[in-house]
Amino acid sequence: MPKAFYVTTPIYYVNDAPHIGHAYTTVATDFIARWHRQRQEDVWFLTGTDEHGEKVMRTAEANGTDPQTWADRLVEEAWKPVLKTIDASNDDFIRTTEPRHVARVQEFIQKLHDNGEIFEGTYEGYYCVACEEYKQPGDLVEGTGEYAGQLVCSIHGRPVEKLSETNYFFRMSAYTERLLEFYEQNPGFVQPESARNEVLGFVRQGLQDLSISRSTFDWGVTVPWDPEHVIYVWFDALLNYATAVGYGADPEKYERTWPADIHFVGKDILRFHAVIWPAMLMAAGEPLPKKVFAHGWLLVGGEKMSKSKLTGIAPAQITDTFGSDAFRYYFLRAIAFGNDGSFSWEDIAARYQAELANGLGNLASRVAAMVGRYFDGALPTPGPATDAEEALAAVAAKAAHDADAAVDRVAPHEALAAVWTLVDAANGYITEQQPWAVAKDDAQRERLATILYSSAEALRALAVLLNPVMPKATAKLWESLGAEKALGALAAQPVADAGRWGQLVPGAEVTKGDALFPRLDLAAADQ
Ligand code: MSP
Repeated sequence: MPKAFYVTTPIYYVNDAPHIGHAYTTVATDFIARWHRQRQEDVWFLTGTDEHGEKVMRTAEANGTDPQTWADRLVEEAWKPVLKTIDASNDDFIRTTEPRHVARVQEFIQKLHDNGEIFEGTYEGYYCVACEEYKQPGDLVEGTGEYAGQLVCSIHGRPVEKLSETNYFFRMSAYTERLLEFYEQNPGFVQPESARNEVLGFVRQGLQDLSISRSTFDWGVTVPWDPEHVIYVWFDALLNYATAVGYGADPEKYERTWPADIHFVGKDILRFHAVIWPAMLMAAGEPLPKKVFAHGWLLVGGEKMSKSKLTGIAPAQITDTFGSDAFRYYFLRAIAFGNDGSFSWEDIAARYQAELANGLGNLASRVAAMVGRYFDGALPTPGPATDAEEALAAVAAKAAHDADAAVDRVAPHEALAAVWTLVDAANGYITEQQPWAVAKDDAQRERLATILYSSAEALRALAVLLNPVMPKATAKLWESLGAEKALGALAAQPVADAGRWGQLVPGAEVTKGDALFPRLDLAAADQ
């Protein structure tokens, strides 16, 4: 059985409800998963929740409940529903409190312990509970405002805690050279380039051994040989990528899925994935993931959007007005993947109107309406192609090719820009060919048929190429083109074939359904 293309999101902390920063990671991963499925590849897409550790434990306490009850509630009421809100197509959802994960984490750490990779020691230093991370003095900055005079975490702006604990350590220092060699031999492992440079710079300073247990609280996976300790939440969490696909439990599934092809992460959690995780896998003799891609942050007022700073926006606030397709399209198109980006209501409203309602939506409704008006809704048989049709077909072929190549570079914004060349070309083609004028001359029936058939062909290609980003609108478009009968399901149309001209079968029943992107009540969006 061939190996599946395996992509993951980070698993999300259940200390709070999701905001659009979290949804951004999931949407990007979902887009890549769907694109590969559209290529007709076998895909496995994993997401889930990270439920142990001090942060979740303290949140539960602050809410007057125990961490398991809190986690159960947040997962069912917030984290699983948000996947529907943004139309995520994950194949599995892992929770780190599930037995299928906990038991395998214990086996993994026991194996490292048996192999002499773990020793007992004392951790003296700083810890940021919001990051769940041991911090070096160089990672900290002077606090401002209420925290003036204290050292704070540069990401959260909150004071760090001073720990002095007897813990178990993983001999990560032993992996400095092996990791550097691995990065050297696999230049595509950490992307984009800025992320790779950060990781190289960090590892070149030499790695320190890592504390992988905590003994001052108990919300975590118990260390199998010493029940006074729980496993450090990141050591536990990173293993989800392997436990969810059968590590230690289902060798066949594990073989078919592991290693991951791309771990998608925000840049704040890059080092965990590009340094600690491969070192853990090396220590256990497991294959390493092929790529870690770090995207940027959604910013509000120049800072990372976050619930703790009260700048979080819930995805439903946006999808209620614009719909999930526009949400997905907007974040993938407007932000160069890998860079930070700012969200604004004005910006999404402007793109919705210009690109989705007027650009794509109008194209689809005009073509369907004209086939209805001039040919009673039956797709006409085209006559000979002129230069204009050949040029349009060439744009379609190039758009399909360029978008596919952009996906291989993990550049969704470039993929969508490439597809949009076809939206623009098709609109330009119709404006130039003026089918409404040609329709007035009975002698030009065949020419009219050619123009409308060619416009419908552009829409066919667009339905396939945009299916990974806007699955609801493209399902409607496929239906409106009457394409299913002759060509089969939209999901079954290979990307490699999308740009091949002339697939629609004359006679197909073309219908003008609801607008793909209805006009907005801007007063409602202007909140
Ligand atoms: N639980 C860890 C991940 C463990 S993976 C083995 C974690 N969880 S998180 O909920 O805090 O963040 C999950 C993801 O959401 C990260 O990739 C993070 O970068 C992303 N984002 C959180 N806020 C964000 C923005 N404001 N903008 C973009 N992404 C953001 O870290």
